[in-house]
Amino acid sequence: MPPKFDPSDPAVVQLITLFDSLGLSPSKSLETAKSSKNAAQLKELIIAHGLEGKNLEEKKALLVAALAAQGTYLGSEAKAYVIDKVLEGKLERGDQLTAAVKYLAQHQLTATMNYLEPHRGAINEAEFDAECGVGVVVTPDQAEQLVLLYLAENASAIEGWQSFSATLMKLKATPELRWAATLDVKNATEAAFLNKFGPKVSVNPKDMRKAAASKTATPGNVTPTASDSSSGIVALSSEKTVFEEGFLGRLHKPGGNPQLNGALREKHLKTTGGQVWTRFPPEPNGYLHIGHSKAIFVNFGYAAHFGGKCYLRYDDTNPEAEEQQYFDYILEMVRWLGYEPWKITYSSDYFQRLYDLAVDLTRRDKAYVCHCSAEKIFADRGGEERGPRKACEHRNRPIAESLAEFEGMRDGKYKPGEAILRMKMDLEDGNPTMWDTIAYRVLNAPHHRTGTTWRIYPTYDFTHCLCDSFENISHSLCTTEFILSRQSYEWLCDALEVYKPKQSEYGRLNIQGTVMSKRKILKLVKEGHVSGWDDPRLYTLIALRRRGIPPGAIISFVSGLGVSTSPSNIQTVRFEQAIRQYLENSAPRLMMVLKPLKVTLENVPEDYVLMIEKPLHQKVPELGTSSVPFTRTLYIDAEDFRLEDSKDYFRLAPGKTVGLFQAPAPVTCTRYSIDPVTGEVAELFCTLGESNSTSNKPKTFIQWVADHPASGSPIRVDETRIFHQLFKSDDPAATEDFIADVNPNSLEVVEGAFIEVGFWPLAKKAIGDARKDSEARLKAAATSGSEPAKEASPVGALHDAHNQPVASVEQLVGNECVRFQGLRVGYFAVDKDAQLGCLTEGDAPKPGSRPGDVVILNRIVTLKEDSAKKAS
Ligand SMILES: *[C@@H]1O[C@H](CO)[C@@H](O)[C@H](O)[C@H]1NC(C)=O
Ligand SMILES: *[C@@H]1O[C@H](CO)[C@@H](O)[C@H](O)[C@H]1NC(C)=O
Ligand SMILES: *[C@@H]1O[C@H](CO)[C@@H](O)[C@H](O)[C@H]1NC(C)=O
Ligand SMILES: *[C@@H]1O[C@H](CO)[C@@H](O)[C@H](O)[C@H]1NC(C)=O
Repeated sequence: MPPKFDPSDPAVVQLITLFDSLGLSPSKSLETAKSSKNAAQLKELIIAHGLEGKNLEEKKALLVAALAAQGTYLGSEAKAYVIDKVLEGKLERGDQLTAAVKYLAQHQLTATMNYLEPHRGAINEAEFDAECGVGVVVTPDQAEQLVLLYLAENASAIEGWQSFSATLMKLKATPELRWAATLDVKNATEAAFLNKFGPKVSVNPKDMRKAAASKTATPGNVTPTASDSSSGIVALSSEKTVFEEGFLGRLHKPGGNPQLNGALREKHLKTTGGQVWTRFPPEPNGYLHIGHSKAIFVNFGYAAHFGGKCYLRYDDTNPEAEEQQYFDYILEMVRWLGYEPWKITYSSDYFQRLYDLAVDLTRRDKAYVCHCSAEKIFADRGGEERGPRKACEHRNRPIAESLAEFEGMRDGKYKPGEAILRMKMDLEDGNPTMWDTIAYRVLNAPHHRTGTTWRIYPTYDFTHCLCDSFENISHSLCTTEFILSRQSYEWLCDALEVYKPKQSEYGRLNIQGTVMSKRKILKLVKEGHVSGWDDPRLYTLIALRRRGIPPGAIISFVSGLGVSTSPSNIQTVRFEQAIRQYLENSAPRLMMVLKPLKVTLENVPEDYVLMIEKPLHQKVPELGTSSVPFTRTLYIDAEDFRLEDSKDYFRLAPGKTVGLFQAPAPVTCTRYSIDPVTGEVAELFCTLGESNSTSNKPKTFIQWVADHPASGSPIRVDETRIFHQLFKSDDPAATEDFIADVNPNSLEVVEGAFIEVGFWPLAKKAIGDARKDSEARLKAAATSGSEPAKEASPVGALHDAHNQPVASVEQLVGNECVRFQGLRVGYFAVDKDAQLGCLTEGDAPKPGSRPGDVVILNRIVTLKEDSAKKAS
C-alpha cells in the first residue's frame, strides 16, 4: 500500500506552496502534490527554470505543469525553449503543448547523437511554430466554413450519422482545422449533419421516447399567450425576444456592414435613412411550403420589428421553370401570413442593369467568355480522381475578345451551352463558389415578363447579390445552405465597387413526418395519393391554409422556435401541438356529433321547445353566444353510449345518468332499441331529470344537437374530412421508397355528422370579419405607400394591366376562415369545396341553409395529441 497522503505533512505543505507560487490554483496544486511522480517532476522543473514565485496566469501555469508531466524525456534546453514559448503566449493550448513536446522529442534525438555539432540539433523556429500552430487563429466562423467546405467536397464518402466520429477525426486532422477549437469543429459538424441527415436516430427505443418527451417539454416552443386577432396578425410576447436575441439579435446595425469605401456606406444610409431593409426573394417556380414561412417571418418580421421595409422580390432569372400561377400564390401566401410587401419587384426588372454590369466586370478583366462544355468545366475543377484544378484556355483571352463574344451571346450568335460568361475569381481558393462561377448563360426561352428581348440570362450567383445591392438591402438573410455563396456574393460587389449588403445565414425549418420536396409532392399528386398541391394532408402553405390552420398560429409557431444558425427539425405532431394551443382560446365552440345516435326524452312533450342561449367559449365571453333549441328528440354521439357499464365510465348506459351541456337537466337512459338489420343500437329512450336538482349532479357532460326543423336544427354535414398522418413512418423523407410509406388510411370521410344551428351566424360573421380585415389591410397598405395597393384594381382582381399579381381583398377571404371547435370532437374549418349560399349573398340576408348547399368540414387538428396518435 502506498503511504497515506497527508496534506498537513510539512513536506506536502511545502510542495503545495511551491506550486501555488507558480500560479496554479490551490486545488490543482493539491491534486499535483497528491501524485508523488507528478509532484517530483513539476518541482524539478520549477526549480531548474527559476519559476518559483512567478505567479503566472493560471492558463500558463497549467501548461508548465503539463510540460512537466509530458516532457520528462526532453533535455533542459528544450524545456527552456518551451517554457519561453509559453511565457510569451505563443503556445496557448494543451494541444499545442503536446505538439511541441512531440516535435522537440524527435529533434532532440538528433541533438544528443550529434552533440559535437550542436547546430544540427538547433531548433528551427519557423518549423517549430508551424508544427505547433503558433499564431494560427481559426475563428468559429472560419471553422464552420472549413467544415462545410470539407463536407461538400467529400459528401460522397459520408453516409450519415454513422460516419460522424470518423468525419470529425478526419476534419481535425486537416491542416486547416488542426488548430481550430475542437468544440467549434464539433458543433459545426453536428449542425451540418443535422441539416443534411436530420436528427440522429437513436437505436434504443427507450432513448427515442425520452428524447421525444423532452422535446415536447421544451419551454418556449409556442407562445400560448398569443391571442387571435381575427386578422391573423398577432402580437406575440415572444416576438421581441426573437428579433432582439440570438441570431437576429447579433446582426449588425444598418450601415455596420463592411464596404469597399466609406462613400458607398454614406450613400446607402442616406437612401435608407438608417432603416432595416430586407427582402423575401422566392423563385417563382413552385408552391411555398411550411419551411418558407420561416423565411417570410424572418425577413418581413425583422424589418417590421425595427420599423423598416421588406421587398417581395421574385427571383425570376430562370424562365424555363416559371409559371404565372406561382407568382400569384406567392403574393397570396405572404399576405395570408400577415405581411404586406413594401414593394413587389422582379430580378428581371434589372436585366439591363445586370447586363451593363456584366460588361463592366469584363472590362475590369474580372469576367471572360468561356466555350467549355459542362464536362470540361467539371474536369477542370480537379479533385481526387481528376487531379489538380486548372484554368481553361479562355480565362486569359483578351478583354476585347470577351466583350465581343459577350455581345455575340446577347445577339444570338450562340446556342445554349456554346458560350457562357464566367467570373474571373480565384481558382486557388478553397471555396468552390470562387472557381470562376458562371454569370450568364444562353437560354432559348422567352421570359414571362421580358418576352424575347433577352437570349441570355444571369445566374443566381450573379443576380442575387447585385439585386440586393440595387435595392439597398441592409440585411440579406438566407438559410445556411448559402453559406459558401457568401464569399462570391461579397467578391462580386467589391469587384464592381458597388454597395455591399451583408449576407447572414440562419438554420432552416424542416418538418419531419412529411415530404416537402417539389419532386416528391408532384409524385404524390400525379399518382393520386393526394388530391392536389393543396390537399390538407400536405405541408405546402396552400394546403395548410385549406386545412384551416390560422396564419397567426403558423407565425406563432415559427416565432416560438426562435432563429439560430442551426436548423429546426420539427415533427408534425409538435407542429400540431402548437396549432392546438393557438386555437384553444381563439376558436369558438359549437356542439357537433360525428356519429349521431337518436335520443327520445319520453317525459318531454312533443311540442316542447326551449331556446338555450349558450356561450361560444366558456372562458372567452368576447366570442359571443349562440342560440340552440332543446326538444324532445336529440342526437348524441354514438360513442357516448355503451351497453356495458363500468365503474370508471361516466357517460350514458342503460339505467345511467349523464349531463347535457347547457341543457336544463341531466338525462337518464331507461331503455333502447336495436336495429333489426344491423344489430346495432338504433335509438335511446331517456327521461329528463328534475330541473335545479342538486342531489344528482352528473359527473360528465356530453354534447348533443336537438331535432327542430323549424329552426333548421340539426345541420347535416355532408362530409367531415378527417386527416391522419400521410405517412406511416416518422421520417418518410429518409425512407428509401417514400411512396411505400404512404398511409393508405390517412383520409377518413364521415358522412352525416350533425352540428348545431349556431354554425350559420358564426360562419357568416367569420367571413364578414375576414372581409373587413382584408379591406382594412389593403387600405392601410395603400396609405403606407405599398406598391401592390397602389396598383390594386377593383376588389377581386389578381392581376394588374401588365399581368402582374397585385393585392386584393379576396385573397384573404376563404371558406377556411370559418373555424370552430366541435366540442369534445376536434377543431374544424369549412373546406373550399363546400357551398354555403348564405356566405356569398352579402350582408343583408339571414344566415341559414339554402337549397343546393353542401357542407364540408376539414378537421384542422384533434383536441389532444393522444387521440391523434391512436387514430393513425
Ligand atoms: C476531402 O477529404 C480528403 C481526404 O480526407 C481531404 O484531403 C480533402 O482536403 C477533403 N476536402 C476538403 C475540401 O477539405
Ligand atoms: C456548441 O454547442 C453547444 C450546444 O449546442 C453550445 O452550448 C456551445 O456553446 C457551443 N460551443 C461553441 C464553441 O459554439
Ligand atoms: C439605393 O441607393 C442608391 C444610393 O446609394 C440610390 O441611388 C438608389 O435609388 C437606391 N435604390 C433603391 C431601389 O432604393
Ligand atoms: C331553476 O333555477 C333557475 C335559476 O337558477 C330559476 O330561474 C328557475 O326558476 C328554477 N326552476 C325551478 C323549477 O326551480
